[in-house]
Parts: sequence; C-alpha cells; structure tokens
Amino acid sequence: MKQTVRPAPRLEGEIRLPGDKSISQRAILLNSIANGTAHVSNLCEGDDRTSILGCMRGLGVEIVEQAGYGDGECFEVRGRGAGGLVEPSNVLDAGNSGTAARLVTGLLAAQPFFSVLTGDESLLSRPMDRVIRPLRRMGADIRGRGGDSLAPLAVRGGGLTGIDFDQPVASAQVKSSLLIAGLHAGGETTVRQPAMSRDHTERMLSAMGANIEVDGLSVMVGRSELESVDISVPGDISGAAFWLVAGAIHPNAEIRLSGVGINATRSGVLEVLNRMGASISVENVREENDEPVADIVTRSSDLEGVEIGGDLVPLVVDELPVLAVAASRASGTTVIADAAELRVKESDRISATVDGLARLGAAIEEREDGMIIQGGAKLTGSPVHSYGDHRIAMSMAVAGLCAGGETTVDGAEAAAVSYPGFWDTLARVSDA
Ligand code: S3P
Repeated sequence: MKQTVRPAPRLEGEIRLPGDKSISQRAILLNSIANGTAHVSNLCEGDDRTSILGCMRGLGVEIVEQAGYGDGECFEVRGRGAGGLVEPSNVLDAGNSGTAARLVTGLLAAQPFFSVLTGDESLLSRPMDRVIRPLRRMGADIRGRGGDSLAPLAVRGGGLTGIDFDQPVASAQVKSSLLIAGLHAGGETTVRQPAMSRDHTERMLSAMGANIEVDGLSVMVGRSELESVDISVPGDISGAAFWLVAGAIHPNAEIRLSGVGINATRSGVLEVLNRMGASISVENVREENDEPVADIVTRSSDLEGVEIGGDLVPLVVDELPVLAVAASRASGTTVIADAAELRVKESDRISATVDGLARLGAAIEEREDGMIIQGGAKLTGSPVHSYGDHRIAMSMAVAGLCAGGETTVDGAEAAAVSYPGFWDTLARVSDA
C-alpha cells in the first residue's frame, strides 16, 4: 500500500494515542501467569497485539474481549497461575514483534513442555541468541536456525536455576525475558544492566507481588506467585513521538496529545526535543497503574542540532528515526552515536532512515553506530520506502509534511504494526 503525504498549511488537533505497546504486552503476558482475573483496557492496537494475544491463547490462556468496561474496550485475562500453561498444540507466532518473541521465549524456557515459536520474515532475521544463551545457562533446551541464533525456535523448558547475568547491551527485552524465566526458576536470577532500559516489567512485577528487588542497574527476581492486576495502559509515547516531532518542525502547528505515558525510561524523546529547543509542554502529570502519565502539547519551534549517544540511547531507542527527521529540519549538526542496536530492529533502521531522508534531500551520513545530519537542507517530496518497518513508515510521513511536493511512502501498511489509526489521524490533523 502506498500513502501520499503533502505539506499541510496547518497541523492542529487533539490526539489520543493507542496503548503503550511495551506495557500492553507485559500486561497480557504477566496476567496470563497470575492468579485471578485481570481487566486490561486501552491495550495497544495493531499486529503486535494480535501476536501477543495469539501466543498466550496458544498456551491455553482464555483472553476475552469485552466492550463497555471502564472507558471502553477491554480484555479480560483469566490467569492460569504459575504452572498453569498448557503445551501448545501448534506453533506460536510472534509475528513482527521482537518483544513478544523474546518475552515469550523466557516464559517457554520455564515451562515443562515442548513448544515452537516463529515470526514473520523480519523477526526470523533478528538475533535471538541474546536470550537463548542466558536461558540455556538457566537450564532450558532451546534450538534454532543459524547455530541456535534465529527463530523458529524449539524449546523444551522447565527445571531452571537462576543465574547472575551481566548484559552486554542495554536491552529491556533481554532483561524481561530473563526475569520472566526467573519467576519459575530455583534460586535467584540477577540481571545487571550496562545502562537503564525501560522498566515496565519491574514495575508490573512489583505491583503483582513478585519477589523482585531493584538496586540501581541490577534487578533480582526469585521464584514468585503473581496476583493479577487490572491495568489501564497509558498512551504510547513511541507513537506520540511522531506527533511531537511533526508539531515541532511544522511552521504552523499545535497538537495536543492526551494520556501519554512518560516513564523516565521511555521519555528520552522529550529530553532530546527539549535540548533541541522544541516548544513542548508537559501538563497534568499524574500516576496511573504505577506509571506516570501526562498530556503533552507540541507547537512549531526553531530546532537546533543535538548530540545523542551513551546512556540516553536506550531511553530513546525507538524514537531515533523520527528524531533524525527533526534533525533534518533543525539548524546545525545532529550526531546520533552508540545506536548500533538500530540495525537489528524491525528493519536496519540506520540504513532505512538514511536512505529515506537522503531521497528527500536531507544532508545525512550513515555511520556504523548511527548517523550525522546537517540540518536545514531543503526537503523535496519523493518516493520513499518503509522497509516493512512501522516506525520508518511513520517517520517518512512526518518528513513528508515538511517536504515540498508529494512524498509517497511505499509499504505504508507497516504502520499498522503499532498504530493502525496513524494515516487517518494524519489526515485529520493536517486538514485543519
Ligand atoms: C522493547 C524494548 C526495546 C524496543 C522495543 C520494545 C520492550 O528493545 O526497541 O520496541 O518492550 O521491551 P530492546 O530492549 O531490545 O532494545
């Protein structure tokens, strides 16, 4: 599917974001192995939601969609408690979702049965050895293609013993995978992070009564019984990022985003845009289900280039493509470094971002671990490609709003992985 984006005279409107994808997946998975029934509302939308629901249902969990609970659609998760999952009769499919694949593999590693996990073409090329190796050390038998590094994975789990694991790269997926396995392992499982990554698993496990301790960058979990918790998922800051940037780089814009999760391990995009000089106000900060939430207003701004690297990268990792778009409209140079992880996301996001922005006329240079952007070059509409990656499709759409002429995003359907309403919302706010 192709979508054409034209420069709009004004961007204006109020947007309610789909539920946060990371929190949604954890809310479904952890409530599935808890005692009791949970109601999860404002769940993420799109293909990644289908993936986690499919995996958990495949493991025997009843998850029922209900209308009219609380403020709208909600999912009732009937937890099966520790040890209540059943051997899946068929292959589990994590689709495009690296998070579902890594978290579910941690769960399967602890189950005393055989299971096979697969995914789409993109997922089949993404590294799984980062979870396979430590889970094997815990005692799971996990095999995969490419010398046990790629899905499909065959897992014979159970009988795990906790380990002490130093993460080579800050990754919330790996951390969470091991913590989930550790819930059902003998002894303690400790994960030491080189830098902070998103902490939704830790927060949710604490709220569910798990035996968990967080000490700076170390997280320890012991064998635990979880109690189910109702969760109203906050709006996804990673989806909000497209509008934050669109509002800031457009010359005539004011966009209000309501109910956005602003957990400090996710809100690096706000810090970076603030440092770039964006006119963004964070209002009505409140705490909902152990996560901070706010309304955010973004307005036309004169941005300046910035350096992004080091410990900031994991806090902004999914927002770097759209921040590169912001950098192309800023004055001065932006350097994105220490971000080699972008190469193993849903696409190689360094080359996909550089290719798309270069086609539009941006002065952008690819580096092994990031990119360098000289802001201010005139952008001219052009055909660009999503590379099958939701975040690239939406980033290119935002760039197209500020490019002269027409930008056609090929593979635009990829946006539906995390944000099925994106194109309709874009039409609404740019038709003001
Ligand atoms: C996620 C963690 C991040 C992020 C992904 C979601 C999560 O990946 O890129 O979109 O929900 O844990 P890594 O932790 O592998 O960097």
